[in-house]
Amino acid sequence: MPAIDYSQKIPNNVDLKSDKKLQRALEEWQPNFVEWWCSTGPTDFNANEVYLRTAVGVDRDGWAQFGYVKMPDYRWGIFLEPQQEGRKIGFGDHYGEAAWQEVPGEYRNWLRRLIVTQADTEPASVEQQRLLGHTAPSLYDMRNLFQVNVEEGRHLWAMVYVLQRYFGRDGREEAEELLQRRSGNPDHPRILGTFNEPCEDWLSFLCFTMFTDRDGKYQLLSLAESGFDPLARTCRFMLTEEAHHMFVGQTGVGRVIERTCQLMKAGKDVVKEGAVPLEIIQKYISFWLASSTDLFGSEISSNSANFFRSGLKGRAFEDKYDEHLALNQAYAIDLPEGGKLVRKEVEMRNAMNEVLRDAYLEDNQKGIDYWNRICEKHGIEFRFRMPHRRFHRKIGVYADACYDIDGNPLDAAKFEARAGDWLPTAQDKAYVKSLMKGVREKGKIASWIAPPAKGIDDKGWDWEYVKL
Ligand SMILES: [Fe+2]
Ligand SMILES: [Fe+2]
Repeated sequence: MPAIDYSQKIPNNVDLKSDKKLQRALEEWQPNFVEWWCSTGPTDFNANEVYLRTAVGVDRDGWAQFGYVKMPDYRWGIFLEPQQEGRKIGFGDHYGEAAWQEVPGEYRNWLRRLIVTQADTEPASVEQQRLLGHTAPSLYDMRNLFQVNVEEGRHLWAMVYVLQRYFGRDGREEAEELLQRRSGNPDHPRILGTFNEPCEDWLSFLCFTMFTDRDGKYQLLSLAESGFDPLARTCRFMLTEEAHHMFVGQTGVGRVIERTCQLMKAGKDVVKEGAVPLEIIQKYISFWLASSTDLFGSEISSNSANFFRSGLKGRAFEDKYDEHLALNQAYAIDLPEGGKLVRKEVEMRNAMNEVLRDAYLEDNQKGIDYWNRICEKHGIEFRFRMPHRRFHRKIGVYADACYDIDGNPLDAAKFEARAGDWLPTAQDKAYVKSLMKGVREKGKIASWIAPPAKGIDDKGWDWEYVKL
């Protein structure tokens, strides 16, 4: 595995220069990518220097280097984790066979679909977040937004490399399409629902990085197990970048809670002080969590069985399991039947989406517990909660009926009557939006969020992370 070669037009550690045809194809795609970035990426800040990290190596420590960069000059590149000698397929019907270094012909279409679906989320999130730079609550937060944005751009590169290198002409066409679809465009939308939701205020952004990027983490964990080795290796490196995105969400929402709790403890009026009431924060959490829960797909899914059986997409941390075939096992699930829920057993392989969703929800609970400790620390009684996994779903077996926040079935009229208790109302959204005024002075921060405990790269939080 060569080190990352930054002398090339496209930085890479895959020895791109030895494959002239591929290099040319990617170099042709590169200006289209930059054009996409400049026309649908962050508005108006492309001429400013931002203190960003760039990958310098793919090993565990010290892979990042920090420095001021104008975003369009960011060195997007292709970084894969090193190939492990003799790696075997870790699950499914091909368990124990040598991992594939080329696309297995019989699974070509499924594999392409998996890669394109993951790839599509990366530029989508950049599009969703494009206006947020203007309303950043501090320079620190603005920098984090842009870091997330450039890394999602790099994730697109990661996936486009796999498409172009391994899927020939189809791959090149898919790579072009990835720059054509647009988040929220009714005629040519992004593939998955959550990635077409508007993300226009910072509370939404922080919930998005907490919950939607965490969906990304679990998708990447399951693809990092793939028997198709190049996909596994690219996903493993993406995961190291992803961790920062969830940090932004977890600590960001935590800082909104912190600010509100401080005001409550001091006996101040939260709204008068321009902070966000805890009840509204909870509603944003419930909305984004439910929407992101949908991203795992249907509870019972023959696709998920096929992806597992074929060795393309495993379970998160497949190593933790005692066996890797998932045969002759059942998964118990409460299915709606005539307005009631009836517990049924389904074949484990058909429930792989649900298995991944379980791991995801468990991980979310840890984040919620962390937020509740902030309330506790301030002696505030309010406790945050996860909505039940059946709540407000648009995909899967629970999508056709309504469920309350605890997962109990209720009819549509009753749901509508109570929706404002559980989800942000137009009024809540208008209030949150009214708080969104950019703060661009060093050492200043918006009224609705507390400063972070520390800055980036051992700098203070009040450092000049963006030169305006
Ligand atoms: Fe990503
Ligand atoms: Fe991300």
